[in-house]
Amino acid sequence: MNETDARTPDDDSGARVVRAWRQLADGSVLLDGFHALKHAVRFQARIPVAVTTDRQAAVELADELAPDVRDTLEGLLTEVPEATLKALVPRPHPTSIAALAVRPSRDANLERLARTPRTTPVVVLDNPRNLGNAGAVIRLAAGFGATGVVTTGTLDPWHPTVVRGGAGLHFATAVERLTVDELPPGPVFALDPEGEDIRGLKLPDDAVLAFGSERSGLSPGLRARADHLVSLPMRPQVSSYNLATSVAMTLFHWSATGSASP
Ligand SMILES: C[S@@+](CC[C@H](N)C(=O)[O-])C[C@H]1O[C@@H](n2cnc3c(N)ncnc32)[C@H](O)[C@@H]1O
Repeated sequence: MNETDARTPDDDSGARVVRAWRQLADGSVLLDGFHALKHAVRFQARIPVAVTTDRQAAVELADELAPDVRDTLEGLLTEVPEATLKALVPRPHPTSIAALAVRPSRDANLERLARTPRTTPVVVLDNPRNLGNAGAVIRLAAGFGATGVVTTGTLDPWHPTVVRGGAGLHFATAVERLTVDELPPGPVFALDPEGEDIRGLKLPDDAVLAFGSERSGLSPGLRARADHLVSLPMRPQVSSYNLATSVAMTLFHWSATGSASP
C-alpha cells in the first residue's frame, strides 16, 4: 500500500484544510475560539475554513450555548490534531476552535457608514491607543446596534488583538479607519469632561459619538469638527473614565433616551 492509500478520509480533509488555511491566512480575519466563530456566523461572515481538535465537543458546546448556529458549525468545522492547531494558531483559544473569515469590503462598510437617514449612531474613537479598548468598543457597538465604529489615527481596528477583544462582532457593525475629514454625516457629539452634562441631553439616532484617545483626549481636529461637547457625570477629583466604559455609558444613554431598540 502506498502512502496515499494508507490515508483515511480525515487525513485528506485535514491536509486540505491546512493548505487552505496557509493560503488564506494573510488578509483574512482570525476568529479565535467558539464565541468569535459563533458571532461571525450569526452576522453572516464568510468563513472559508474552520478547525477544532474535537469536533464532537464543539458541536456539543453549540448545542448547549448556541443551538441556532449548531448545524452551520457542524458543517464548517474540520477536526485536526492538536499539533496542527498549534502550528496554525500560536496560542489556541481554550475552546480549541479557530477559523478564518473574509474581511468585509471597505467600500461596503463606507457605504453603510455614509447611508442616510441613519437610525443608529456611529461611534468614533479619535486616535485610540489600546487594542483591548477598541475591541471592547466594537463589542458594545454591536450590542447596541450602532451603525459602525470608526477609528482615526494609526491603530488598525482589524488588528487580531482587537478582533479577539471584539469576540467576532466586527461583522455586526461597520468597522473602518478614516480621517477626521472623512467622518460619516450626522451631528458630532464629542465626549469630554468639560462638556455639557449628558443627563440633560437627548442624543439623536444619527449622532456621531466621538471619544478621545486614552492618552491625550480629543484631538484639535476632532474638537474643531464637534457640534456639541458632552460630559459624563463624574465627581471633581476623578480625572476621567476609561475609554470603553465612556462609550458604554454614552450608548446606554442614547438607548434610554432615543428610539433605540437593540
Ligand atoms: C481615558 S479618557 C482620556 C483622558 C485623557 N488623559 C484626557 O486628557 O482627556 C478617554 C476618553 O473618554 C471620554 N471620557 C472619559 N471620561 C469622560 C467624562 N467624564 N466625560 C466625558 N467623556 C469622558 C473622553 O472622550 C476621553 O477623551
